[in-house]
Amino acid sequence: MNDICRPELDALKPYKPGKPISEVQRELKLKKVVKLASNESPYPPFPPAIAAVERILRGLNRYPDANCTALKERLASFLDVPEPNIMIGNGSNELVRLIANAVLNPDEEVIFAKPSFIVYPTVTKMMRGICREIPLKDFRHDLPAMLKAVTKKTKMIIICNPNNPTGTIVFEDEVSEFLEKIREGVVVVFDEAYSEYVEDERYPNGIDYFRQGKLVAVLRTFSKIYSLAGFRIGYGVAPDFLVEAVSKIREPFNVNALAQAAALASLDCQDEVSRRKRLNAQGKRYLYGEFERLGLEYVPTEANFIWVNVERDSQEIFKKLLAHGAIIRTGDIFGYDTYLRVTIGTQRENEEFIAALKEVLKNR
Ligand SMILES: Cc1ncc(COP(=O)(O)O)c(C=O)c1O
Repeated sequence: MNDICRPELDALKPYKPGKPISEVQRELKLKKVVKLASNESPYPPFPPAIAAVERILRGLNRYPDANCTALKERLASFLDVPEPNIMIGNGSNELVRLIANAVLNPDEEVIFAKPSFIVYPTVTKMMRGICREIPLKDFRHDLPAMLKAVTKKTKMIIICNPNNPTGTIVFEDEVSEFLEKIREGVVVVFDEAYSEYVEDERYPNGIDYFRQGKLVAVLRTFSKIYSLAGFRIGYGVAPDFLVEAVSKIREPFNVNALAQAAALASLDCQDEVSRRKRLNAQGKRYLYGEFERLGLEYVPTEANFIWVNVERDSQEIFKKLLAHGAIIRTGDIFGYDTYLRVTIGTQRENEEFIAALKEVLKNR
């Protein structure tokens, strides 16, 4: 029966999410587990978001606003971009897929970094596109090499900024030069899921390139600093034609009513966003210090996770950390067998993770 499904699906595997806390507790009979595996925020949603959700619960017999009108209006003023250039998705992940669905013809090429977010190859292959994966240089996107990889068949380039799993960024001057040289007809997607965490002043705002009239789409999410991962809601800014194309192929009610209300209320909590950015920065400095004490090399991060080399098989370390109640992501899925990707948690979670790591590495 395998020939019933489209053959391009043969090259794909189902997405393997980080292990849920409840599963680890059950399997290993552990009371306390810290999950630092999925780059989620360790903090609950903002109180006004929870209140907004509670207010509309009794209206859930109705479909949501299919156009996400109130949220788009609010985002238009927040971002200072015209409302018709905003798209809302069931997570920014959905928008990556919808853009690929909208623009890719079979055998057209998509350029992205290796390692980067594992969804990019999936959306490319499902459209029968060709993946052109360009190795990172010093753990950062190698934009000159990505530029060199452009051919007649290139349709899309995805720049994950900051990059998942390394947490590194490309700088404003590098991106400007890159975009100057890109030939017409190539859509450049900036995946800025972690942008709110960035401290480095050389970080470009992808939306500025949209304002300059470049063929770019900028994707952001409420899943990370806004703590709404469970709701699935993200947004994008793109030229009119692309927003229109995406709206033709998305599900009519792709973003649920609760998520829309929570996202809208969260945008009014910018002081708390700044506070969480500071807490994340403190967490990363604490983890840097501990990694240095343990003699582990890490890549300085601009996101809410750290890419660290434990110089041992990451699967083995994963299992041992799990037994101590800490869930992280192994580097092997990104092609780096001795690396871990560790999400920055609360100070207590970070300390618990470090205590577990010290135990696991004791007998090196
Ligand atoms: C780089 C990157 N883009 C997009 C996403 C997906 O975000 P969302 O929850 O908005 O679908 C993630 C999630 O981990 C990510 O790492």
